[in-house]
Amino acid sequence: MKHFTTSLVLFALAGIGLLYVKMNDLEKRSQQVDELPPGVAQEHMEEEVELAVMMGRLHHFAMKLHAAGSANDLELARFYHHEMHEVFEGLEDGRIMDEGKDISALVAQYGRPSLDAMGAHLQEEDSAGFSAMYDGLLQSCNACHAASDHAFIRVVAPVRVPNGQVFGSHR
Ligand code: HEC
Repeated sequence: MKHFTTSLVLFALAGIGLLYVKMNDLEKRSQQVDELPPGVAQEHMEEEVELAVMMGRLHHFAMKLHAAGSANDLELARFYHHEMHEVFEGLEDGRIMDEGKDISALVAQYGRPSLDAMGAHLQEEDSAGFSAMYDGLLQSCNACHAASDHAFIRVVAPVRVPNGQVFGSHR
């Protein structure tokens, strides 16, 4: 029993030691990040992770917005518009720089007006004219891709309804 207690104590001590080393390492790493010039740390993190991920989400919501609007499912369309709006806000507030381009300013300049126009349109009673409105929105996405040196990324209206979800049930 004595033996067992001693092993238990030793084991616990080893665990605490390991934890201490790990915490030290984490602290050092966070110091290293702090020491980077602010612009570099921010640009590196947000450019690599946030922008691509946020664009992917934007595209995903945009395709569902299309399915909902085309099915005259305004409640669902408003939901996806709202999700896109939140992504836009995150992009605008994030002070994101990408290869020397001020992405946040470009989003406000190119993307925002047509997203707001779409929002106003969806407040109407039915979705007549949705398709033209949607094309205008995607044109502004592509204009911003061109303005931020990514003209090779061109989004178009989807030709199929996303699988696994009902669009058009709230008419
Ligand atoms: C700043 C203006 C800007 C606006 C507005 C914008 N984008 Fe982007 N988008 C970018 C940039 C820059 C990239 C490249 C990101 C990178 O380098 O990781 C990108 C990348 C993408 C990608 C490629 C990533 C992927 O997941 O395949 C898609 C798709 C995309 N955008 C869709 C859209 C859609 C849809 C809209 C409009 C609803 C939109 N974007 C609006 C600047 C913009």
